[in-house]
Amino acid sequence: MCLLHLPPRVTSAWRVCIFVFFSFSLHTFSTDSREAGFMSSKREISRRGFSKLTTWLGIGKQSPAEKTFPILKGHPIAAEHAEGAVEAARASETTTTKTLKKEFKIYRWNPDHPSTKPFLQSYFVDLSTCGPMVLDALQKIKSEHDSGLSYRRSCREGICGSCSMNIDGTNTVACLKPIDPDVSKPAYITPLPHMFVIKDLVVDLTSFYQQYKSIEPWLKKKKKSAKDGKEHRQSPEDRKKLDGLYECILCACCSTSCPSYWWNPEEFLGPAALLHAYRWVSDSRDDYTNERLQALTDREQKLYRCRTIKNCSATCPKGLNPASAINKMKAKQLLSAAGQAA
Ligand code: SF4
Ligand code: SF4
Ligand code: FES
Repeated sequence: MCLLHLPPRVTSAWRVCIFVFFSFSLHTFSTDSREAGFMSSKREISRRGFSKLTTWLGIGKQSPAEKTFPILKGHPIAAEHAEGAVEAARASETTTTKTLKKEFKIYRWNPDHPSTKPFLQSYFVDLSTCGPMVLDALQKIKSEHDSGLSYRRSCREGICGSCSMNIDGTNTVACLKPIDPDVSKPAYITPLPHMFVIKDLVVDLTSFYQQYKSIEPWLKKKKKSAKDGKEHRQSPEDRKKLDGLYECILCACCSTSCPSYWWNPEEFLGPAALLHAYRWVSDSRDDYTNERLQALTDREQKLYRCRTIKNCSATCPKGLNPASAINKMKAKQLLSAAGQAA
């Protein structure tokens, strides 16, 4: 474009500015083309030229954040936030924060050294640099103190049921259990009680899952498919009957807190499997209610070993009530047996 072709209302000062801008653009283009060996888009050339021009004129100087994080160039808001974060980090370096060290006594046992008895190992965690939950403390211990510590975890939000353990005497999932901020007393963390320990906080859940499998936790239909061949429909009222049952995450906190399960782990199915059995017995879409109830009493111990002690309901980290589900199932089973006898 020739500057002479500009309309007469463009003043000489503006003409000079436009000339300088395009000179810088062309200079950038030639330099970058030589360096990169190919031509960028026209917009990119103009942008770089404009950037060089503003730097030359002293407008839009590089901020400290842009210098530290060059990737934020051209993103003023992000650069502002980054600058704030850098300043806050500098301030925290100069401020002496009070350290809150809490002792965690954790059960240790290693199958590679079977002659060494299990013991409680102490770790001191600075709570001011740790997340709020017991699982956060375990993660910190594993990453900063002892990578050999073993425990299960996955979702860290109370969905997968992996991080179940005994914390300060109560079975719960570590990711939903807040750390007691009282640093004068230690936190005790041990595996789920009355289970075979594989290593440290990891227990063998094979039998627990087999018991769950034994109740056939899937929809069973006598007819092959629903009427329209698409889905098995359920009314909102019938769906509501499953609330308080389907939420179970199979963490095993309830079963491993049940004295009846401790003493009869092979015969008694335990509250978790029985809660799921009741979930399928209550499902209006399932056609095998009577058969399911009958299967639960082919050996009396499977269901009737429950003595309604209610440890299960007291400990469930999801706030479910397996004891109530078991009681309702006992009533259903008795009614079903009476109906069949009549
Ligand atoms: S209510 Fe039954 S299942 Fe629950 S803890 Fe007591 S005995 Fe175990
Ligand atoms: S009923 Fe509660 S404690 Fe028992 S397995 Fe399910 S979620 Fe865990
Ligand atoms: S990590 Fe999934 S329940 Fe705790």
